[in-house]
Amino acid sequence: MHKSSLISITDFSKHDYLKIMKLAAEFEQNPNQNLLNGKVVASLFFEPSTRTRLSFETAILRLGGRIIGFSDSSSSSVTKGETLHDTIKMVSNYADLIVMRHPLEGSARYASQVSSVPVINAGDGANQHPTQTLLDMYSIIKTQGRLDNINIFLVGDLKYGRTVHSLLQALSVFENPIFNFIAPPELSMPVEYKKFLDQKGIRYFEHTEFTDIISEADIIYMTRVQKERFTDPIEYEKVKNVYILKNKMLANTKPSMRILHPLPRINEIHTDVDSNPQAYYFKQALNGVFTREAIITHILGLK
Ligand code: CP
Repeated sequence: MHKSSLISITDFSKHDYLKIMKLAAEFEQNPNQNLLNGKVVASLFFEPSTRTRLSFETAILRLGGRIIGFSDSSSSSVTKGETLHDTIKMVSNYADLIVMRHPLEGSARYASQVSSVPVINAGDGANQHPTQTLLDMYSIIKTQGRLDNINIFLVGDLKYGRTVHSLLQALSVFENPIFNFIAPPELSMPVEYKKFLDQKGIRYFEHTEFTDIISEADIIYMTRVQKERFTDPIEYEKVKNVYILKNKMLANTKPSMRILHPLPRINEIHTDVDSNPQAYYFKQALNGVFTREAIITHILGLK
């Protein structure tokens, strides 16, 4: 693996997380900095994206870099049968950095082993989404003023939702986190992540409903049921409407509580929540630009 790649959130230390938070705050104050002048970044999206691709590309342009790549692999030679190995070998000859999203778990790690330049994982199947986690952490620190002692409710598709897997691992390095997992049994948090918390002695609680305990939350992190990961459409139909957060449910929450969602949302947050000051998900998506500027400059050693 290229030593500077970011494939799993665990590739970064607590020190790295805090440095990214500090840099993101600097980029929020001053987003246009010519640090990527003369550099080319490849943006390879083998799976659809709005926020991750466009916020990475905005970050690169604000840093004065140039972009090559594709947003739809059907326009690449993958359709002719070219392997991921050969695609990455080629592109790493052209670019200084590769940002890649791919539907297969482990594909980003494999790409980083083949590439001669750093690879940033922009989401690999149901596995990891480390740059989303860093922008989630930036959103938590901005709204709560801390990353320690956070009581976080992770709600929805905890089985296939890669963002919750990365976020759980990242918050585990801070003091005294409490995780409340709210999911139907079919979409519960995978055993390996619960074992991970057990080994660290970190508290977590599993629920199928959360209205009775909602007043305890510092962060409610809603997720979409990941239709594209289901092999059986009937199974998706059973769980697709399992949680719908409505404004009236927020009456007994802490005023400082904020609602996050990596987006896209389907129906799991009712639009009547959008005008509630506790709704933070659109600002969270904007934080993605500053956080990704921070990640790119950190990985390339420019900051
Ligand atoms: N949060 C997120 O990954 O969104 P996109 O799928 O639109 O990139």
